Amino acid sequence: MMHPYDMHQDIERILVSETELRRRIEEVGGRLSRDYAGKRPIFVGVLKGVVPFFAAMARAVQIPCQWDFLSVTSFEGGTESTGQLTFRKDIDHDIAGRHVVILEDILDSGRTLKFVKELLERRHPASVRICTLLDKPAGRTVELEADYVCFTIPKAFVVGFGLDYDDYYRNLPYVGVLKPQVYQD
Ligand code: IMP
Ligand code: MG
Repeated sequence: MMHPYDMHQDIERILVSETELRRRIEEVGGRLSRDYAGKRPIFVGVLKGVVPFFAAMARAVQIPCQWDFLSVTSFEGGTESTGQLTFRKDIDHDIAGRHVVILEDILDSGRTLKFVKELLERRHPASVRICTLLDKPAGRTVELEADYVCFTIPKAFVVGFGLDYDDYYRNLPYVGVLKPQVYQD
């Protein structure tokens, strides 16, 4: 079948294949099921990049749990990014006394997850932990580590399985390195 445009041609190399994604998410989902047995955790996904990971992880977790979502955005101020984050959409649940697991697509500088974690911690949950699909330690500018990491990746711009460039490529079934010529000039 002919496609008008093949997204795969913009990918330099596949970093995490569909099979590796499936296997590793099952494994981490098993760990979460054991760690949170009897605790009725609430999983909070950071939109939008987390959607495929959230869906896969939610099926891999075998214990009673609830779902919620939030969305944050970083404000551009003047010619430079101020790095200031704000809520675009808050969660619906009251998390006081609850065990919260934040799910995110990628931990890079750490600013997004630090902001989200501190905000949720102010609401007096029983605990807050972070579970990320990808960890890019080379990008870190603030002190923050995830409690559950599915894959540690090198410093490269990646897309697919939820991760985007200009909101595109989220629907690729794998995680791949985007060809630099796609975002340069
Ligand atoms: P942080 O606040 O720098 O940790 O960045 C987290 C956010 O930056 C993620 O939720 C992504 O939206 C975005 N991001 C960081 N690295 C990448 C990447 O390699 N590809 C796509 N998005 C990325
Ligand atoms: Mg994101």
